[in-house]
Amino acid sequence: MDDISYFKKILGERGVVQDEEKLDDANTDWMRKYKGSSKLMLQPRTTEEVSQILKYCNSRCLAVVPQGGNTGLVGGSVPVFDELGWIYLFHIPKFLHFMCIFSIFGCHCRICFWCRFIMPLDLGAKGSCQIGGNVSTNAGGLRLIRYGSLHGSVLGLEAVLANGTVLDMLASLRKDNTGYDLKHLFIGSEGSLGIVTKVSILTPPKLSSVNLAFLACEDYASCQKLLLEAKRKLGEILSAFEFLDVNAMNLVLKHLDGLRDPLSSMHNFYVLIETTGSMESHDKEKLEAFLLQSMDSGLVTDGVLAQDINQTSSFWHIREGVPEALMKAGAVYKYDLSLPPEKMYELVEEMRTRLGSAANVVAYGHLGDGNLHLNISAPQYTDSILSKIEPFVYEWTSKHRGSISAEHGLGLMKADKIHYSKSPESVQLMAEIKKLIDPNRILNPYKVLPSSVLSQS
Ligand code: MLT
Ligand code: ZN
Repeated sequence: MDDISYFKKILGERGVVQDEEKLDDANTDWMRKYKGSSKLMLQPRTTEEVSQILKYCNSRCLAVVPQGGNTGLVGGSVPVFDELGWIYLFHIPKFLHFMCIFSIFGCHCRICFWCRFIMPLDLGAKGSCQIGGNVSTNAGGLRLIRYGSLHGSVLGLEAVLANGTVLDMLASLRKDNTGYDLKHLFIGSEGSLGIVTKVSILTPPKLSSVNLAFLACEDYASCQKLLLEAKRKLGEILSAFEFLDVNAMNLVLKHLDGLRDPLSSMHNFYVLIETTGSMESHDKEKLEAFLLQSMDSGLVTDGVLAQDINQTSSFWHIREGVPEALMKAGAVYKYDLSLPPEKMYELVEEMRTRLGSAANVVAYGHLGDGNLHLNISAPQYTDSILSKIEPFVYEWTSKHRGSISAEHGLGLMKADKIHYSKSPESVQLMAEIKKLIDPNRILNPYKVLPSSVLSQS
């Protein structure tokens, strides 16, 4: 029996996609920068189907690329050559006390089941990303400052290994110190060690009082001081602290329809501060007092508090719309860096000096988490621009003991750059783990780890 007939036997006609248009979409990443040439996409519906397919692929050494919503930004979720494409299809959310178990087949994030609980992560890509992809990439997003990373909120998961073995680690306990906590290997390893098929996530209760302020600061040092003050003075109700610079704001206003500047004039920096709590009067009073003090001290030069749900969503749209505006502006070189907040904007300024008028250097991101999204926008991709950015951006980050991937992962883009953030000994151990779990290297090849290290180990 040939491969396709075998897959049809397991998944039925419906689960084996050969339609060119669908394959073209699945082969191309969100940024339209990476393109594979997979001739086949599989849509399993159950863990058992995933297991049978992987077992077969492993025996035939067929490479597999797991793909959720295909919203990745580092070429991690698309084939590089003709690996088998893979996509999740349907979902079965199941409610259990304070946590939620999701089967990840097609499950979108930010599910608010019966409106009493929330997903502990919220991403700009929330309309299309999927839980399996979020967990496999350890997605961060807008509320990490409040709820922490998925390494904390994922209580358990089920994963299928390359040889088809199903690992049931679907615990729902807050505390469990029995042996190695293996689930963490699958959170953030970008599908290179196994396919996550079920997840149990701690879901915080949905709180009734949410406030959002859109503020302006004249310099980066003020944004940074404002963050320290917000942590001190807003304490437990602080749920987001995001920033964008004037170049990001200009792009959003130019390229996204229907958005207008909430403030009356342009400023050098913008900060969004969100609070989430359980008592409207107390939370508002706290936020208003904080804003008054920040204005008196000159940290904030202008600002507005969202008055209703429409204003709230338009303020968020400005911040969340930056990636889309960048895409509309032309070619974009994307860097997602963790840096000590006091160093972050120095890099942006140095990059502007290096590039001069050749490109527009844009900065935004999760300031509250020390995560800078440094984006360089240009009319088209050129070797001359790239050579001014790389390896400088990685060397600078490494010199300041930052991370070259705060939340987007390494994917194909940065697989061979891992040494800027991890020691040779750590990379070697990672390669040995990969070899142990996926000896035929069928899972998401060419991603995460450098091929040179994998072929040596
Ligand atoms: C964001 O924070 O908007 C996302 O990580 C996407 C991006 O960095 O462009
Ligand atoms: Zn981000």
